[in-house]
Amino acid sequence: MFYPEELVEEVRSKSDIVDVVSGYVRLQKKGSSHWGLCPFHNEKTPSFSVSASKQIYHCFGCGAGGDVFGFLMNYENYTFPEAMKILADRAGVQLPEPQEGEEGRVREKKRARLLEVNKEAAKFFFYQLRSPRGEIGYQYLEKRELSRETMHRFGLGYAGKSGAEVVQYLHEKGFEDEVIKEAGLASYSEKYGLKSLFWNRVMFPIQDRNNRVIGFGGRVMGDGEPKYLNSPETPIFDKRRNLYGLNFARMAKAGNMILCEGYMDVIAMHQAGFTQAVASLGTAFTAEQAALLGRYTENVLLAYDSDGAGVKAALRSIGILREAGLTGKVINMKPYKDPDEFMKALGREAFEERIAQAENSFFFELRILEEQFDMSDPEAKTKFHREIAKKLCGFSEAVERENYLQAVADKYFISVGNLRNLVEGYAAQTGLAKPVERPKTGVRKKNPEENVKRNQRLLLTWISDEPALYDKIKTYISADDFKEELYHLVAERLFGDLEQGKFQPASIIGMFEDEEEQRLAAEIFNTNLPRLESMQEREKAFHDILYQVKSSSYQYEMTHMETSGKTFHQMVEGKQALEKLRKTHISLE
Ligand code: GTP
Ligand code: MN
Repeated sequence: MFYPEELVEEVRSKSDIVDVVSGYVRLQKKGSSHWGLCPFHNEKTPSFSVSASKQIYHCFGCGAGGDVFGFLMNYENYTFPEAMKILADRAGVQLPEPQEGEEGRVREKKRARLLEVNKEAAKFFFYQLRSPRGEIGYQYLEKRELSRETMHRFGLGYAGKSGAEVVQYLHEKGFEDEVIKEAGLASYSEKYGLKSLFWNRVMFPIQDRNNRVIGFGGRVMGDGEPKYLNSPETPIFDKRRNLYGLNFARMAKAGNMILCEGYMDVIAMHQAGFTQAVASLGTAFTAEQAALLGRYTENVLLAYDSDGAGVKAALRSIGILREAGLTGKVINMKPYKDPDEFMKALGREAFEERIAQAENSFFFELRILEEQFDMSDPEAKTKFHREIAKKLCGFSEAVERENYLQAVADKYFISVGNLRNLVEGYAAQTGLAKPVERPKTGVRKKNPEENVKRNQRLLLTWISDEPALYDKIKTYISADDFKEELYHLVAERLFGDLEQGKFQPASIIGMFEDEEEQRLAAEIFNTNLPRLESMQEREKAFHDILYQVKSSSYQYEMTHMETSGKTFHQMVEGKQALEKLRKTHISLE
């Protein structure tokens, strides 16, 4: 970050988050907050709240949250300086030209330049496709049954037979060799000079979720190697963290996302109306991409090729989705090879049916596993059943495991009792799987640490709702009672500000540069407080929360006495302070 803190504060204080978010989301005032449908995940009833007094947003459904900068960075995929610029313009704040030599500025400038050169190249390919020279490309795409609108929507293009033209065009547009090379559009050789990477191919510009061209895929028209040529990784093209089609799919709100293998699959699906289809970028599906999908939905449908390689890839992706806490289902494409061919042959309605019949990923895995065993051989069959038992141990939640156990027993004609014995046997040997984090479900696991943090959040939210309370409790509590780093930092800054008569939760969130940290910090100020009518109930609830926070802090210190450097005497004092707090009445009036 290279804007001075005061300037960031000035822009923040002159920007109204409710106003900014209203440009994207329809908000309605209810109580002390504004509410709307969350733009970061699919939902039918509003759980997305924006607070004018705290100047932060938070979604109770998916946990997204942050300040006004964070919102724009999250929604528009802006970098911090970009968000800063937009907000400063809006608020009429003059930004200084950033100082020369600043590392961040150089990086930003380069990124911007790379995006520009890609955009320009995409334009060139686009017009080529629609010119007489590109007829061969146009015909190829027509033969693949893409409509003119579809080609337009995906910005498809054509790279001509001579690799020199695009380079020449980019030179004319003022791009230096260095940028063209760094964008992966061309490479230099002694013999040919600077020569385009792509020639005689139909071009698929790859856009990030905000429609910016970050790379390209080029396909040969007909047979030839390689079938697809993809841009290399560049500072703006991170194949692990982007998905083809996400710029449209994120708006689809279909209640699921469909993951395909190829660009053509995505395009064919969108053309048929399934605008929730995405694909990875010529490389295997990654955990980062799963997390990306998790921001929009819990349900991912795999529409992979029906051949051996497709099945293998599906098995791999299922594991990744599961790790990310997402539910995977597998769409059966047979007898066709991939979604593109399926769509051409059977069309939209037949695919709808396949979606409805999509197979639970666990059963899919078992079905594939089963193929390795000869079920007429009791020995092999037993081995298969053991494998099933092993896999069942992978469910960390008892209810889920039991439900699967019964369903599997039913499906494969195994006695429930026998299968349970097998599972228990394995569990005793190897232990059960650790719980997976499920960020999207809202059903948070109730572990003790989470409870401690929840109480801390409740307290900090309450104080941020009623800052005047701070004076009443400051003798009992301090930032040191918050043991986890992020909570500690937030409490320290909040209490410090309140000491000085300041109150700016949004700038506290702004201390964190990392998107995930911002989200967690926003959550701290947005915990659902108990709705209590009478003052007596409210006072009791507040006292309980305060006491719980103090008490877990004391317990923490007890168990960490050796490392914390606290003396025995201090611990006794701590115990006494805790006792005193327990007996003290704190008035909220
Ligand atoms: P079409 O034949 O055009 O229908 O392709 P497809 O969509 O059926 O693609 P396929 O299943 O063959 O491959 C899926 C994805 O893998 C493609 O979209 C590319 O991203 C990538 N891919 C395919 N072939 C190659 C290749 O030769 N090299 C590289 N780097 N990637 C490839
Ligand atoms: Mn295909």
